[in-house]
Amino acid sequence: MIEQLRNKHARISVVGLGYVGLPIALEFGRHFHVTGFDIDPTRIEALKNNVDPGGELPASYFENSTVDFTTDIDALKHCNFHIIAVPTPVDEHKVPDLSSLQSATQTIASVLKNGDYVVFESTVYPGCTEDICLPILESVSGLKVNTDFKLGYSPERINPGDDVHTLRNVMKIVSGSDKEALETISDVYVSIVQPGVYQASSIKVAEAAKILENTQRDLNIALMNELSIILDKMGVNTYEVIEAAGTKWNFHKYKPGLVGGHCIGVDPYYLTYKAMELDYEPYVILSGRKVNDNMAYHVAKRCVQKLIEAGKNLATSRILVMGITFKENVNDIRNSKVADMIKELRSFGLQVDVVDPKADSAEVEKHYGFELQKVNGHQYDAIILAVPHKEYVQLTPEYFASIATTDGIFIDIKGIFRDKINTLQYWSL
Ligand SMILES: NC(=O)c1ccc[n+]([C@@H]2O[C@H](COP(=O)([O-])OP(=O)(O)OC[C@H]3O[C@@H](n4cnc5c(N)ncnc54)[C@H](O)[C@@H]3O)[C@@H](O)[C@H]2O)c1
Repeated sequence: MIEQLRNKHARISVVGLGYVGLPIALEFGRHFHVTGFDIDPTRIEALKNNVDPGGELPASYFENSTVDFTTDIDALKHCNFHIIAVPTPVDEHKVPDLSSLQSATQTIASVLKNGDYVVFESTVYPGCTEDICLPILESVSGLKVNTDFKLGYSPERINPGDDVHTLRNVMKIVSGSDKEALETISDVYVSIVQPGVYQASSIKVAEAAKILENTQRDLNIALMNELSIILDKMGVNTYEVIEAAGTKWNFHKYKPGLVGGHCIGVDPYYLTYKAMELDYEPYVILSGRKVNDNMAYHVAKRCVQKLIEAGKNLATSRILVMGITFKENVNDIRNSKVADMIKELRSFGLQVDVVDPKADSAEVEKHYGFELQKVNGHQYDAIILAVPHKEYVQLTPEYFASIATTDGIFIDIKGIFRDKINTLQYWSL
């Protein structure tokens, strides 16, 4: 396969061109013939014009890469190495929603040929690729895995907003349905991942490794969030404690915060879903989720308490929330926990203005029902620095003081301005 890809007698397809699929398609497009397929025509139009709708990759990233972007399923018929990178969210009951994954698998199954490879990149629970996707591939195509086509799973480690840990320079886990599949899939990925690949012993191991990476992070943040609630009751700043504890050689400096987005706050539910199917209640993981999911309400509650303590009238108080995206330096507002916090603040009758230099106001309106504003001469009773975008980290304490009332409150969720804010009442997680 690798030789055929190199001499352009075989093609790669990438199905789903979001945060994960787009860089993969573009990196492979520097070496091989690549077809990039997505069901969203607006996205395909943007990509054809070298624009990443996710705002992650600059136009220069499209240079020296040839990818045929399309919404046409027929174009996939000429491809031989298929990579599926579609969303795997949870529904409102926190149950895995596999509909995109199943539909993308159907798409590939309908064009599958003898000798093809199918590699899944979407984050799933251990067993999902073989128990859910493989039967679709086999039944729709009429082909048999390992005899007629090969299967693989290679989880993604892309971190939106992070230009240090990229697809190109972070080791990637690969796995395959048999030894030959593993070797071929390794050869293909090695051509774009400089540190090389880690060969997992099975598809399930690779799936579980990805879920573990994110569940570990979720739980560590949950521990810091819980600690922060406890320390706050004692009037002790959590970041000071983390800094002190961080002088020990084996202490890991996780920080408290809102856990939004579609990875850390979602993937653990894939594991807990599978655990419960296997008749085990994963109480540690679920407790961590509960703590993290409640942090937005905790911050809103503390803001209201601070306003009351300061003698403010809630009916006339005005709050500025800085940042609505799910994390810093990205434009993605989906699963933003800041939105939960705003809803909670408004439930107390507070007037809340929301600003964000990265987010698109129309998108915010569509998802959350309010528009973004500009800081425009109001004096705020409380400022909540919710998402520390680069633009906000560069601001000065004097700036914050200039847009706040004299007895204003500064809530710094991530502790960025600790020890710097003197004229406003300071609080952080
Ligand atoms: N975003 C991350 O940081 C990250 C990191 C590691 C792993 N992952 C995982 O990678 C997977 C993809 O996530 P993402 O963040 O790239 O998602 P995304 O929402 O950014 O993009 C997914 C793309 O898939 C397209 N799509 C949906 N259904 C499709 C279908 N049936 N056929 C073709 N295209 C379809 C959508 O139009 C969209 O363009 C998920 O399983 C996610 O958990 C994401």
